[in-house]
Amino acid sequence: MQMDPQELLSLCKRRGFLWPAYDIYGAVSGLYDYGPLGAALKNNIENQWRRLYVLQEGFYEISCPVVAPEPVFKASGHVDAFCDVYVECTSCGETYRADHLAAGMHPNPASLGEHELGKLLKANGVKCVECKGELTEPKRFNLMFKTSIGAGKGKTAYLRPETAQGMFVNFAQVYRYGRERLPFGAVQVGRAFRNEISPRQGLIRLREFSMMEAELFVHPEDKTWPGFRKVKDRAMPLVPSKGDPRTIRLDEAVKAKVIGNEVLAYYMWLTYKFALDIGLDPARLRFRQHEKTEMAHYASDCWDLEAETGYGWIELVGVADRGCYDVQAHIDHSGADLTAFERFDEPKEVEQDVVKPDFGELGPLFKGKAKKVAEALSRLSPESAKGKDKVMVEVDGEKVSVPAKCFEVSRRKEKVSGRKIVPHVIEPSYGVDRMMFALLDHAYSKKDDYVTLRLKPLVAPIKVGVFPLMPKDGLDEIAQGIYNDLTGAGFDSYLDDSGSIGRRYARMDEVGTPWCVTVDYDTKNDGTVTVRDRDTAEQTRIKKEKVPKAIEALVKGAGLSSLNTLR
Ligand code: GAP
Repeated sequence: MQMDPQELLSLCKRRGFLWPAYDIYGAVSGLYDYGPLGAALKNNIENQWRRLYVLQEGFYEISCPVVAPEPVFKASGHVDAFCDVYVECTSCGETYRADHLAAGMHPNPASLGEHELGKLLKANGVKCVECKGELTEPKRFNLMFKTSIGAGKGKTAYLRPETAQGMFVNFAQVYRYGRERLPFGAVQVGRAFRNEISPRQGLIRLREFSMMEAELFVHPEDKTWPGFRKVKDRAMPLVPSKGDPRTIRLDEAVKAKVIGNEVLAYYMWLTYKFALDIGLDPARLRFRQHEKTEMAHYASDCWDLEAETGYGWIELVGVADRGCYDVQAHIDHSGADLTAFERFDEPKEVEQDVVKPDFGELGPLFKGKAKKVAEALSRLSPESAKGKDKVMVEVDGEKVSVPAKCFEVSRRKEKVSGRKIVPHVIEPSYGVDRMMFALLDHAYSKKDDYVTLRLKPLVAPIKVGVFPLMPKDGLDEIAQGIYNDLTGAGFDSYLDDSGSIGRRYARMDEVGTPWCVTVDYDTKNDGTVTVRDRDTAEQTRIKKEKVPKAIEALVKGAGLSSLNTLR
């Protein structure tokens, strides 16, 4: 069912999922607060994701600052390239993303540069949506929030627009922690910031949002994947950049080079499976491949997991092959050794490039430090020095720029036990807020004004509603006891003793609570309570002491009828 996103957002506000932040001061578009139910739903999604990536797949979770000094984002390319194109109304000053205004005028306006967008908008006579005023020529706008670290002039810094860079700059530490073996992966779950040009679509385009990002570091010449064998015959709906959209088996997709390699295909599958596990509707999911011109500056291949929602098809996750772009960029800019070491089975006589320091030039330039600079140069990977007019190295914790005349990259025959390699990165990057919005959209169902959120128990913010039929005659105490047992067993529960039972069911259905337990006068006679299923409205009676056990079985997927043994 295609639903009105405003209807969903108003339910979210009314029932305590989320609302515009700083509302009492007029709110700021692109910033949202999560209320108790939203925070719980978000935590459940994030914890389920950790279970998959950290526990099942063995990624290492790290946590880095959200603010970083400029050189980090200069190296990553974000300072120069992380831009959108906007136009401004010359009358009312409203701003718009130029590619959004060009929707429907080109198959993929996001792939166009500012010049082409300007021509397209002009040719179609596009004016300000608010006041029909004239629009300026399109201009590029960097989406990072700029700040400074420290008093006075301070150091230029940015709020991170992705968590990924934290994993790249920490490659050496995490590689060492993992006993220096490739492949390995690191993850972060945390906030990211983008100064979006004109966010008008609820949770879809936020200026502060949450990401769950995984960076898998692999051997640059080996993108086969052991886990691929287990999933190769699964199929996913793909929209490739060339050829027709189709549902295709993973092994066929890799063989036909629709998906570039096994690792990318495996992590696309894992992403798809995660989406299904938390309850997204398979009929409204697809993977769309980026056009070459649409791809982020760091990616060599990228597929977006998209969900169809009230806003149309929206991107929830990007799964990209980032190649060696980021690690190499940080090697080049920082001079740090961010390489992995590939040990050969036996030492080999090889002809290879080496970085050879020139003491004749280093001495006069670096004086007492020349020896240490030479040692740092010898540690550089030849790729990071070849053809460069200068390189950065670290000496006694200080960054030193070394001009090309101080070293040469030359071929040498040597007996070596291994070689340094710059790893490639496969990155599944999830937006938590969009995932959450799509989940709510797909779970929303309405019949004769009766709203039910059919959230899966795995993610539902409240698992059980507990109701005493009357808030008296000891029924309230029994209900409180059941509530305590449930929360003690780890099930988020909600005790509700006001209004008719029908109203209470409706309140729980509207926020996606899968089960309700009612204590009535029979409970006092035979010790049983009613358990009611949200989706079937089916009810069964079981012993009140057995409620936590029953909910545990239901969460694991048992049907209500299986509770007969607990009567
Ligand atoms: N590290 C890769 C990266 O940042 P991205 O495609 O720019 O890739 C990843 O972002 C995910 O983050 C998107 O698929 C989307 O779910 C989410 N996302 C990006 N910008 C967002 C925004 N302004 N508001 C909410 N979510 C956003």
